[in-house]
Amino acid sequence: MSEGDRPLRVLGFAGSLRAGSLNAALLRAAAEVAPPTVTVEIFSLEGIPLFNEDVERGGDPDRVVEWKSAIARADALLVASPEYNFGITGVLKNAIDWASRPPGKSALAGKPTAIVGASPGAGGTRLSQAMVRQVLTALGVPLLPLPLFLLGAASDKFQDGRLTDERSRDLLRRVVSALESWAIRVRGGA
Ligand code: FNR
Repeated sequence: MSEGDRPLRVLGFAGSLRAGSLNAALLRAAAEVAPPTVTVEIFSLEGIPLFNEDVERGGDPDRVVEWKSAIARADALLVASPEYNFGITGVLKNAIDWASRPPGKSALAGKPTAIVGASPGAGGTRLSQAMVRQVLTALGVPLLPLPLFLLGAASDKFQDGRLTDERSRDLLRRVVSALESWAIRVRGGA
């Protein structure tokens, strides 16, 4: 539970824009399995333009303002990271780059964060998650160390956009609970 009696607010975002995204589906599952002391709001990275310092100089585009505000309102973050070519997707890196600005005032800094990911292949996004860790570490983001959530062979574990594999749902539940404890700990609550 967060400060006062309100639930901990987790903001989930996925580095994929496609309607059938397994990673977006993971976030919906996280919202379903979250304990009553946690809410998971999902932010789509759709509409965030490619980062350009010239554009930034003229003021953040509206969608970037919405993106940064959603991060600022959240108590904790849940990143669902697909893997493209052994790495982070451009969509996710681009969104993080916008959120990292201005230097020294990033909305991401200090936000307790967990990373999850799903892929049809065997690796379960291990390499992209490692890259997300590297990038967020540079931004002073306190990352949940464990448990890892690497969902391989993921196409078999969803039906009609819903995570149906019970073992995966249990592990996801443990990740969300660990993120809640982590957020409290990072804030000095326990
Ligand atoms: C992929 N995919 C992929 N998967 C993986 O495990 N390792 C990889 O390196 C790659 N590389 C890769 C490159 C590109 C350009 C695409 C489009 C795809 C497959 C990828 O994991 C799969 O498409 C997932 O379903 C993407 O995540 P979403 O969109 O389902 O969230």
